[in-house]
Amino acid sequence: MAYKVAIVGATGNVGREMLDILAERRFPVSEVVPLASSRSIGAEVSFGDKTLKCRHLDTYDFSDADICLMSAGGTVSKEWSPRIGAQGCVVIDNSSAWRYDADVPLIVPEVNANAIAGFAKKNIIANPNCSTAQLVVALKPLHDKAKIRRVVVSTYQSVSGAGKDAMDELFAQTRSVFVSDPVEAKKFPKRIAFNLIPQIDVFMEDGFTKEEWKMVAETKKILDPKIKLVATCVRVPVFISHSEAVNIEFENPITAEEAREILREAPGVLVIDKREPGGYITPHEAAGEDATYVSRIREDPTVDNGLVLWCVSDNLRKGAALNAVQIAEVLMNRKLLTPKKAAA
Ligand SMILES: NC(=O)c1ccc[n+]([C@@H]2O[C@H](COP(=O)([O-])OP(=O)(O)OC[C@H]3O[C@@H](n4cnc5c(N)ncnc54)[C@H](OP(=O)(O)O)[C@@H]3O)[C@@H](O)[C@H]2O)c1
Repeated sequence: MAYKVAIVGATGNVGREMLDILAERRFPVSEVVPLASSRSIGAEVSFGDKTLKCRHLDTYDFSDADICLMSAGGTVSKEWSPRIGAQGCVVIDNSSAWRYDADVPLIVPEVNANAIAGFAKKNIIANPNCSTAQLVVALKPLHDKAKIRRVVVSTYQSVSGAGKDAMDELFAQTRSVFVSDPVEAKKFPKRIAFNLIPQIDVFMEDGFTKEEWKMVAETKKILDPKIKLVATCVRVPVFISHSEAVNIEFENPITAEEAREILREAPGVLVIDKREPGGYITPHEAAGEDATYVSRIREDPTVDNGLVLWCVSDNLRKGAALNAVQIAEVLMNRKLLTPKKAAA
């Protein structure tokens, strides 16, 4: 059984990572088709040891494709995902376009793989926001043990979360600072080099940003609607990997040592927690890795049943491309999707 997989946004940060991860994990493919906008027709991307040429999304026929990994932003997804789904190709979407639709499962395989049932209503499955994905991977095993009541999270999010142009902006601004050129901000609302910005996505009426709202809504949909969560999302001058300082209040007692043991056994989590200089993970070390790392686990003396921890993961991998490929693996392993060629 091998699937024909189309990748929309194959020239982007997430799309390129999807190509790498499909190859690394030896996902069974009969063909991989990279797609992008008219700007990138013929652009070359790597898939394992092969070089593939990008085709134009607008003229591609999805009728014999099995899976579409969609990573070209919300506007493209809103227009294209229903059309692609209607052609019998399952869309695994990275944008926020479908995450809150009751007929679209929002999946982090380590947390709620069973919620994938019902995906065929629209043939669309949503991938969460990068900052939510790593958070719920770390919270789930602790929630199972002691029931989470409330979470306060502050994020330190890398520029790659805003796309390849945002990475170029950090690079260009950093260079400008060193050579005393004027610093230009285009993608971000203020200078990001040697700075940080307490705004990700647009402001909402209540003063929170959309990114902060997403973390609340998505944690509720994926993990438990009863969990109260408040977030402050901050962009930092790091290229890859998001970090999060997380305060958690539980209904039942749980010690730091118990949490450490539980997280050590949890799928997708790696605990690096030595109470000595450097005995924790930084974003630089998590880049290119699959795990959600947890460090600095300690008890919060200011509340009953409280823990504090530090959580870091590669936002392009677990926060996007890896999670999408893991969703495709769930479809395959649970025999929820038969390749069209095999069915014919
Ligand atoms: N970066 C993250 O950490 C992260 C995490 C979770 C979710 N996401 C989501 O994933 C999506 C992509 O993010 P990214 O970081 O990879 O962005 P990116 O680096 O800016 O890449 C965007 C991709 O979309 C393609 N594209 C843009 N407009 C298109 C159109 N009209 N038709 C076809 N293709 C089009 C671009 O192709 P061209 O080369 O032709 O312009 C490029 O391949 C976004 O929805 C983002 O919110 C990102």
